[in-house]
Amino acid sequence: MDKIIDESVQGSPTMIAGEGKEGRKLYIESYGCQMNFSDSEIVASILAGEGFQTTSELEDADLVLVNTCSIREKAETTVRRRLEKYNAVKKNRPHMKVGVLGCMAERLKSQLLEEEKIVDMVVGPDAYKDLPNLVREVDEGRNAVNVILSKEETYGDVAPVRLNSNGVTAFVSITRGCDNMCTFCVVPFTRGRERSRDPQSVVQEVNELWEQGYREVTLLGQNVDSYLWYGGGLKKDFDKASEIQKATAVNFAGLLALVAEAQPGMRIRFSTSNPQDMSLDVVRTMAKYKNICNYIHLPVQSGSNRILKAMNRLHTREEYMQLIDDIRRIIPDCGISQDMIAGFPGETEEDHLETLSLMEYVKYDFGFMFAYSERPGTLAARKLEDDIPDAVKKRRLQEIIALQQKHSLYRTSQHVGKTEEVLIEGPSKKSDAHWMGRTSGNTVVVFPKEDYKVGQLVMVKIHDCTSATLLGEAVGPVENYN
Ligand code: SAH
Ligand code: F3S
Repeated sequence: MDKIIDESVQGSPTMIAGEGKEGRKLYIESYGCQMNFSDSEIVASILAGEGFQTTSELEDADLVLVNTCSIREKAETTVRRRLEKYNAVKKNRPHMKVGVLGCMAERLKSQLLEEEKIVDMVVGPDAYKDLPNLVREVDEGRNAVNVILSKEETYGDVAPVRLNSNGVTAFVSITRGCDNMCTFCVVPFTRGRERSRDPQSVVQEVNELWEQGYREVTLLGQNVDSYLWYGGGLKKDFDKASEIQKATAVNFAGLLALVAEAQPGMRIRFSTSNPQDMSLDVVRTMAKYKNICNYIHLPVQSGSNRILKAMNRLHTREEYMQLIDDIRRIIPDCGISQDMIAGFPGETEEDHLETLSLMEYVKYDFGFMFAYSERPGTLAARKLEDDIPDAVKKRRLQEIIALQQKHSLYRTSQHVGKTEEVLIEGPSKKSDAHWMGRTSGNTVVVFPKEDYKVGQLVMVKIHDCTSATLLGEAVGPVENYN
């Protein structure tokens, strides 16, 4: 599954294909969302320009970077444990430098650098172009820090190197930051205000990926539907743009169409959609272009109007259900997934039942479900007491997960007997004799390899399923995809 936070990849060291033997060695580990993994590719690209080559061996590294996540307390605890490990290695490699990147940078800079003295460098998500200077600083024995959040930085001019790539699917970031201010969420504080990337640079990156053999891109942003390019600058300043800027602005539906037309053989996905910003224009654009996958990750967080309001999610349960109905009317077989939070402050048993009943209404294909974790500095942390006991949060979360598993099985079983279009991503994790790929709706499919190749689009007849995977047999390549 395309997880927001994919547990199986958390902390895996990221590597550039064909690493060399010379130069200094960079070991970079990533935690958290896809955006962080995508940012690590930008970081590796910037440092490659400084002669760094990636290594998968921590013990060989001259520079260790950890791209961190603050979304829940657990994510921060994991990174803290890793920092202890790096420092143990550093005892035998005194010249080795350690840097913290990403969302924990701003929050914990003085603590990490000055109080605990466990890192040499702290770099926020908008300061990666400053890395060459910061590395020089630490080389000269000084601590280095840059956590300034930017109004313009989109890294549109940095060609990311692809790390740990399967050579078939890639992430392309299109917006940075978020203006939504959901009360539980730390992202607006750690990643700053929302800004969009120049559509031409997005199209160029997608064109280059196609040339390199990639066959699927996921356009990334905290809130992709809010994408708006009017020549640069913050989304919130659009009101002040000139008439010409306004008339030539590109919104998310426009960007999707541009990318879909530029590379008609490339599959296109996007993540994440926010219900309050998703327009039916986007859904219609998805329906219009065959190469835009029929899948929407549409986090809702709660099924209760009272809780949605307290979360500052700017839509109601009824509006969300209407959006689901509209999506299904325009794209009947659209895959839909959720994010859900159990145990937000003040959540009653009735609120929780509303969440379960919303899930029953939608019957999501899959979901990512979390117990509420209070994050310092957020509005919820400042204004609301984290008053739901852990045991209650866990029990509600378990009920949500169990219901989702039932719905996932219901959804996968609907595919059995059908023949689906699947892009081959690589060998199945469990069997070397099988390929793994995904349907347009983002469900994983496993089938015997035969003579098919990675990166090929094939039709697969589905004959069985679990709640997470479809099992089938290829019946032939997809012809005339364009
Ligand atoms: N718009 C973002 C959302 C980022 S956070 C995106 O692109 O995915 C991913 C998910 O983490 C959220 O949808 C929410 O379900 C969960 N989350 C965020 N803050 C949380 C918190 N304080 N406690 C528990 N879960 C949280
Ligand atoms: Fe966070 Fe809400 Fe933005 S969940 S990333 S503030 S859309």
